[in-house]
Amino acid sequence: MEIVILPGPEDVAREAARRVAGVVRRRPGAVLGLATGSSPLGLYAELARQVADGALDVTGVSGFALDEYVGIPLEHPQSYASVIRRTVTEPLGLDPRRVHVPDGRAPDLAAAADAYERAIRAAGGIDLQILGIGANGHLGFNEPTSSLASRTRVKTLAPRTRADNARFFAGSEEVPLHCLTQGLGTILEARELLLVAQGEAKADAVAAAVEGPLAAICPASVLQLHPRAAMVLDEAAACRLR
Ligand code: F6R
Repeated sequence: MEIVILPGPEDVAREAARRVAGVVRRRPGAVLGLATGSSPLGLYAELARQVADGALDVTGVSGFALDEYVGIPLEHPQSYASVIRRTVTEPLGLDPRRVHVPDGRAPDLAAAADAYERAIRAAGGIDLQILGIGANGHLGFNEPTSSLASRTRVKTLAPRTRADNARFFAGSEEVPLHCLTQGLGTILEARELLLVAQGEAKADAVAAAVEGPLAAICPASVLQLHPRAAMVLDEAAACRLR
């Protein structure tokens, strides 16, 4: 795995955006896997700046979100459909018809999960999957003990994740209990993985993912299996690496 350690979060955003832009320039019809959460926000803002400056053309780019909460309305500001629209689709000027989010409101969630897998395959697979990491080592919403071969499916959010994500809601009780998430097996099929992490709160998870055993207890350790995986970290997130 390639590990890049940079002084601060702005450096992480710039370096990660440089990598994403490189993929898009090489492949104008690139399919990007899109994480939500705080970690990639600087990266998305930097890409939007390049698009606004005319330095990057994303006309042909498609996107697939990593995950979605189950049971919150589409228009809820914290549904990942809303978050992706606000932080990626609109700022980059992507065609909304090319940006996909799992359907967490579907009456048949297992069918929605299978449909999402088919949509990714029909798009030709994901060229570059952008990832954050949970403080508990989760990847997407694949919580500790998720199968390393898992596919898109319903998962129960870990209490730690609900507590961590309470900052986006009025309180932790408002954080949904379930989600639809790409599986670890789904994520591993992307041609390239790019994980960004900032801040000391991620340092233990980063160290476990990079230096710990490959183990379901730290889902992000699956990056060790991928031939083209990179982590772009700031010094605080990297501080427990040996
Ligand atoms: C988001 C996702 C999660 C986050 C992780 C880190 O789509 O799948 O794995 O990447 O929870 O969240 P932040 O970036 O908010 O610290």
